[in-house]
Amino acid sequence: MLQRASRCGMPSRFLPTALLLLASLWSSTTFAGSGEERCRRSVVQRHSALPSAPPVPFGAARQRLRDATGASELTAPLPWPPETAEIMVDAHSIIQWYWNETLEIEQDLNLVHDKFMFWPGRVVNAAKLLVRRYGLDRPPSPWSPVIVVFDLPDPGMTWNGKQVKLYRNLARQGPTIHDGLTFAWSNTYVDTSASEMYRCDREVLYMLEMLSRPYPRRQVLVTADPKLAEQAELFSLVRGPEWFDQELQSLGQEGQAAREALLGLKEDNSLEDLPFGIKNAFAAR
Ligand SMILES: *[C@@H]1O[C@H](CO)[C@@H](O)[C@H](O)[C@H]1NC(C)=O
Repeated sequence: MLQRASRCGMPSRFLPTALLLLASLWSSTTFAGSGEERCRRSVVQRHSALPSAPPVPFGAARQRLRDATGASELTAPLPWPPETAEIMVDAHSIIQWYWNETLEIEQDLNLVHDKFMFWPGRVVNAAKLLVRRYGLDRPPSPWSPVIVVFDLPDPGMTWNGKQVKLYRNLARQGPTIHDGLTFAWSNTYVDTSASEMYRCDREVLYMLEMLSRPYPRRQVLVTADPKLAEQAELFSLVRGPEWFDQELQSLGQEGQAAREALLGLKEDNSLEDLPFGIKNAFAAR
């Protein structure tokens, strides 16, 4: 049981016994190659995650991580076989990025959209295509290998009270697994409503931290939010929407269709296969 920790040169006081027990249940032999790098990364993660850990200069830790993972390259191919990697998508930042792309293509369009209506379904359809490629061989997790995390609509910014209410219900219910995807919501684990924050960034960090605890993982966060990207580097590799877009382009006709839907160039039936509650929220008006 302690073998794993000592092989990584990781002092055992950094790992509570329960986590060691969990870790011993899953064999790390599945991940061939660069064991040392992986261990170095998880030590850095644990130093930063636990309050009793000795202080690590934040910049230095990040630089080491960069060296180990190349995390600053937001479009680079992943350094791992796809079946061992897990993907978390910051849905609403991706939507915003595609809107910007569309504006560059069609500059005369006056895009007035609600990013909580229909568009989340398009991200879901795109992310669903990644399920075939990623996380087929990964450590155990309470969630699926591809997780999509959504913001909540800000009641101060919309007249659509029904939408606000339905999204809130989803957040209260917590992550839902459907069709190989996990749907997660801002304000499920981390209640930011008192501070009027509706972004899912706290949620993303919380879930990444939780995932990174029991096992070394090959976790990738896809986000267009530079601040979140910087904070998430301690728990995951970060890729930008450009990377996500490249993935879609490499996924044949279905990938192209999902991409065109996100660019608003194509009608789609994006809400068709969703669970009732989620479909209602995405279509609320
Ligand atoms: C989209 O464009 C706006 C305005 O130029 C910019 O502020 C924002 O950061 C861009 N968002 C993304 C995700 O690229």
